[in-house]
Amino acid sequence: MTIIASLLRGAQLPDSPTARLDIELLLAAAIGQSRSYLHTWPERIVSSEAAQTFASYLQRRSAGEPVAYILGQQGFWKLDLEVAPHTLIPRPDTELLVEAALQLLPATAVSVLDLGTGSGAIALALASERRAWHVTAVDRVLEAVALAERNRQRLQLDNVTVLCSHWFSALAEQRFALIVSNPPYIAEQDPHLVAGDVRFEPSSALVAGSDGLDDLRLIIAQAAQHLLPGGWLLLEHGYDQAAAVRELLAGHAFEQIESRVDLGGHERISLGRLAC
Ligand SMILES: C[S@@+](CC[C@H](N)C(=O)[O-])C[C@H]1O[C@@H](n2cnc3c(N)ncnc32)[C@H](O)[C@@H]1O
Repeated sequence: MTIIASLLRGAQLPDSPTARLDIELLLAAAIGQSRSYLHTWPERIVSSEAAQTFASYLQRRSAGEPVAYILGQQGFWKLDLEVAPHTLIPRPDTELLVEAALQLLPATAVSVLDLGTGSGAIALALASERRAWHVTAVDRVLEAVALAERNRQRLQLDNVTVLCSHWFSALAEQRFALIVSNPPYIAEQDPHLVAGDVRFEPSSALVAGSDGLDDLRLIIAQAAQHLLPGGWLLLEHGYDQAAAVRELLAGHAFEQIESRVDLGGHERISLGRLAC
């Protein structure tokens, strides 16, 4: 017979930088309770089935698998999202892009495009805050499209349309007031790709050519054909890519170009406006 307190005491994840948090999240999920339950009821008995589930979760985490993939969920903005190994685990840094997008347009009926939606994180956050906006969310990976659609349905956001598209390919002549994207932006040889949780994420969500800018170049080059006059393009990029992205935006006739810093003080997003 095992109690919560002894499972918490006995568990170890020496290689995780967030070991204590990971252990609590995994045990809470294994017993189907919240993290605060663990501390409120440390003497409660854990069934042998739940204890086994917890042990298997710990084993997977010890092998490096991200907690979000083990649990199949991740919080983003104010939403609980299903996540899966076919696409990126949404990052807190990307909430900066959501905040910026919300400031750019009025809360009236406007059309917004999210390129490379993955779990649907950005599109669903925007749609949940602005019920009058219509958000089109596209991804090239079919499993990501299905995942974003499941998240959309569970959150009952009927102002979002999820499509399979290679960037703009399925959008014909459609034009938007705002295009947002957190595209792949890591260089092929970047050592971060073989370290930590990132090892478990698919290269289709991460890698963009030898300098990490291939997808950003393509999106910036084609965006004007899908923006309304005065429309905005808002992009997340690598911590050292802001100057290159601003230059690309300027080279494609964007105006009011600027970059903004994330919580770590890195220029993380850049935006520009098409002439009216
Ligand atoms: C960095 S992830 C971002 C996912 C999500 N927007 C987020 O912020 O969590 C990039 C996404 O772009 C998608 N993607 C990559 N190449 C694409 C392409 N050519 N067309 C559409 N989507 C693409 C990937 O499948 C992945 O879901």
